[in-house]
Amino acid sequence: MSCNLAFALRQGTQHAHALAENTTLMKVWIKGIVVLEVFRELLVNLYFVYDRLEQQLYSHQTHPVVSQIYWPSLNRLDNLRQDLAYFYGQDWQQHIRPQTAGLQYAARIGVVGLTAPELLVAHAYVRYMGDLSGGQQLQRIARTTLSLPLNQGTRLYDFEDLPTVEAKKRFKERYRSILNNLPINQETAQQIVQEANLAFRLNYDLMQALEANLKAALGEATVQSIIQGNRPPLHSARPSVA
Ligand code: HEM
Repeated sequence: MSCNLAFALRQGTQHAHALAENTTLMKVWIKGIVVLEVFRELLVNLYFVYDRLEQQLYSHQTHPVVSQIYWPSLNRLDNLRQDLAYFYGQDWQQHIRPQTAGLQYAARIGVVGLTAPELLVAHAYVRYMGDLSGGQQLQRIARTTLSLPLNQGTRLYDFEDLPTVEAKKRFKERYRSILNNLPINQETAQQIVQEANLAFRLNYDLMQALEANLKAALGEATVQSIIQGNRPPLHSARPSVA
């Protein structure tokens, strides 16, 4: 029997998605402004998140619910390691410092793995479906803005097994159909939607935490003018023309 989870997730997290999309970090990014320091810091935090998520999915790969959505080919950790080596050097592990928000996100995934592994579905959905959707657009912008060489620095968003738009689309359809047929009751489905909202919130908190560095790099006034749709001033102190 279908639990209609794909629809419930999309509908039930619509508001949380809009909030995440409308963070200053995302708004500025979509407008084509990516600050290298902030981008690599985001990757650092996501490294801790994916490390925990993929550890948990691996540990619960025979769980009746988790097993259905466990695809090792979706794993992002190896690609993130390559991105971090590109940005921080071969000894990147010595240089990376996650934010509290990144550690809290990872900690929540750890708690879910220990107490209610079926809710890992929510965390997998939010990250992997996000990377396969808006993430692809974010990758194109980051690559162009930061003038990154092909295949370097944004490997997070490369899905080697799903190389084309069409392959990603087909996979997402398959993912939704599997979500709809998970062996769960309505109560668990609701709990998964609730956990997905929390996952969006944790992403939101992480982006908020990175905002301070974005503003420090670009200047508060420039950030405000970008997100209000004005063109950023060419010079912060432009002489007025009489
Ligand atoms: C500016 C930033 C973003 C843009 C432009 C964006 C855009 C999109 C678009 C166009 C879709 C629909 C794709 C489809 O149906 O094939 C989508 C879906 C999705 N996005 Fe985002 N997104 C953004 C940020 C985020 C963030 C920060 C997250 C969470 C980490 C996220 C998670 C998701 C998820 C889970 C879906 C799947 C929805 C579903 O079909 O059930 N997105 N996004």
